[in-house]
Amino acid sequence: MTALTPLVRTGDAIVDTAKARYTTKFYDADKRISESDVQAIRDLLRFSPSSTNAQPWHFILAGTPEGKERVARATAGAYSFNRNKIVDASHVVVFATRTAIEEEYLQHILDVEDADGRFVADPQALREQMHGARSMFVDMHKEAGDLDAWSQAQTYLNIGQFMLGVASLGIDATPMEGVDLDALDAEFGLREKSFRALVVVSLGYRAADDFNAALPKSRLPEAEVITEI
Ligand SMILES: Cc1cc2nc3c(=O)[nH]c(=O)nc-3n(C[C@H](O)[C@H](O)[C@H](O)COP(=O)(O)O)c2cc1C
Repeated sequence: MTALTPLVRTGDAIVDTAKARYTTKFYDADKRISESDVQAIRDLLRFSPSSTNAQPWHFILAGTPEGKERVARATAGAYSFNRNKIVDASHVVVFATRTAIEEEYLQHILDVEDADGRFVADPQALREQMHGARSMFVDMHKEAGDLDAWSQAQTYLNIGQFMLGVASLGIDATPMEGVDLDALDAEFGLREKSFRALVVVSLGYRAADDFNAALPKSRLPEAEVITEI
């Protein structure tokens, strides 16, 4: 990893993007995301922040008809209303979240941070400090019995950043909780690997007649949801 470049103000473009993005209901099945944008998608998935950099997630990126069909199996029955949003999209991401955070995984993150040059100033002390802080949060949530909820919160944060990120690339998206998560776990053997499926996000380009693109956005008023002090 190289050092960070300073942030640059990109004007109000990001706010405009937040207002312009919408949940796509119908995709143009003939349009594909370019390989360079697929790489940007991989980067967005990896570069989300998470509490203590725990990164308690895994992503399944489907870009082939076979891959998308495997994800779409989770829309059988009650969730069939979401099937077209998966099979007609260009790519689909299954967001999975970690169900176990053990010492081996914590050491693995430390090793990656070490290799990325985070601890060069004082390798042993900084490594121990980071491990202590991360373990404190993980243990706190284990003791409270809400490690799963904590893990899911980090993964949802990733999804939020991801949605805005792909919109800034001009890519339409559909976040979906309307999928059979148990079916996804079974399809991809997630539980055996200490993960659980959480949300599916389809990506691609809207169909010309997607009714949802023509509807105005609706949000609760500013004064209702923001208290300024
Ligand atoms: C976590 C999450 C799950 C969602 N699940 C579905 C879904 O299963 N199917 C669907 O069509 N839309 C789904 N939506 C879309 C929401 O209905 C939509 O984001 C909301 O109405 C706001 O509209 P907008 O995204 O167009 O701004 C989901 C959104 C989120 C954030």
